[in-house]
Amino acid sequence: MSTQMRIRGGKPLNGRIHVRGAKNFVSKAMVATLLSHETSVLRNVPRIRDVDVVSSLLGLHGTDIEYDQEKGEISISPHDLHLPHNPSEMDKLAGTSRIPILFAGPLLHRLGEAFIPDLGGCHIGDRPVDFHMQVLEDFGARRVQGDEGMHLIADSGLVAKPVHLPYPSVGATEQTLFTAVMARGITELTNAAVEPEIMDLIAVLQKMGAIISVDTDRTIRIEGVEELHGYNHTALPDRIEAGSWACAALATKGDIFVEGAHQADMMSFLNVFRKVGGSFEVTDEGIRFWHPGGSLKAIPLQTDVHPGFMTDWQQPLVVALTQATGISIVHETVYENRFGFTGALREMGANIQTYRDCLGSLPCRFGQRNFYHSAVIQGPTQLQGADIEVPDLRGGFSHLIAALAADGQSVVSGVDIIDRGYENFMDKLYALGADVEEVK
Ligand code: EPU
Repeated sequence: MSTQMRIRGGKPLNGRIHVRGAKNFVSKAMVATLLSHETSVLRNVPRIRDVDVVSSLLGLHGTDIEYDQEKGEISISPHDLHLPHNPSEMDKLAGTSRIPILFAGPLLHRLGEAFIPDLGGCHIGDRPVDFHMQVLEDFGARRVQGDEGMHLIADSGLVAKPVHLPYPSVGATEQTLFTAVMARGITELTNAAVEPEIMDLIAVLQKMGAIISVDTDRTIRIEGVEELHGYNHTALPDRIEAGSWACAALATKGDIFVEGAHQADMMSFLNVFRKVGGSFEVTDEGIRFWHPGGSLKAIPLQTDVHPGFMTDWQQPLVVALTQATGISIVHETVYENRFGFTGALREMGANIQTYRDCLGSLPCRFGQRNFYHSAVIQGPTQLQGADIEVPDLRGGFSHLIAALAADGQSVVSGVDIIDRGYENFMDKLYALGADVEEVK
């Protein structure tokens, strides 16, 4: 798609759109297929760039892939698994994704070695991989750093070790699952992340033959098995995308039915949406979100790991909070650098200040460390159209929402980032009556 779009804002978004499988699950379920030599089939796969990137990465490792985009079904056969013949190709692809580090466990199990290129991803903090590396090395992988990335070797297989994560990281929990499912012995993983996407990944691994139990205190126990099989699975819906459209309805005074949205995965979002003054109705097909008229209410909010309010909902909600009456305080505790997108909102007239302090009920890892990780938003302000550059995936979609809510015209650049995680977003915007066009 073109990298620029023109938006004439101020029109409520009304209508019905469909949300398919969660980006942050689908990519991991695709990697899980490497654990077996049998064919796996995943359904409800969205047509987003991250799926293409992971498909290409799998292809470089010798897997056969059949992808029916219309049906949203992908079939992956890693019969002839090998390391990439040309590591630099992996490097080129990986520049846009952080998924390659998760190839490590499955490749070490099946090949005894793995190559991990230097990692890319969104610019929302340092996003280190120290927890991942700790797990891999504790289980017996040896690391050799090369020019293009890292070579990992486990000549005599992987052996289970207790894992305690310093922070309940989603990626490090997934890394531990992939590394432990076929390791020798039982792994006790404490302080694990238990996001719905992780639970769905555990469901996939169980279908493949893994033995995994999850305790109420976020301890996960994994009994290593010798062999895993292919799976057949339908991905859970994308709760980040669903929440983003809900915020778009609120910010534009619109009414959007998000077909496919699933209440149980969005409890904390729905509570906040209601406190701000939004209305919603849950049905068997999805969730309808709308602005009921009158003024929205300012709130205090803190992002957290599941079952808290997820960090990826923060940016779209902040746009909606610019339309609420009073002072909202948002404390971002998952990423140290996720308020960069507020600069553009300020240019559009929003009254937002960011602070280094922990402006929440609990201090977080980023207090006293020079990170602007709290924001104070005073509203309501009528946003004005502006020329904006998209910073990252979630910040970028939030800029679109701001431009759709603003008076006048905005030109948003770098919008191609958005199709990394939002399926057919231009078509969905047209379906909701937005006045938008790609700038050729
Ligand atoms: N962290 C470390 N060391 C590590 C790993 C993580 O310090 O080795 C820190 C991170 O720096 C961060 C915190 O732990 O401060 C949480 O990071 P986490 O590992 O949970 O995030 P992730 O696995 O890299 C996934 C999603 C993100 C989502 C987060 C939190 C994928 C591909 N990405 O990232 O999604 O925000 O979990 O839920 O699943 C997005 O979709 O736009 C996105 C950024």
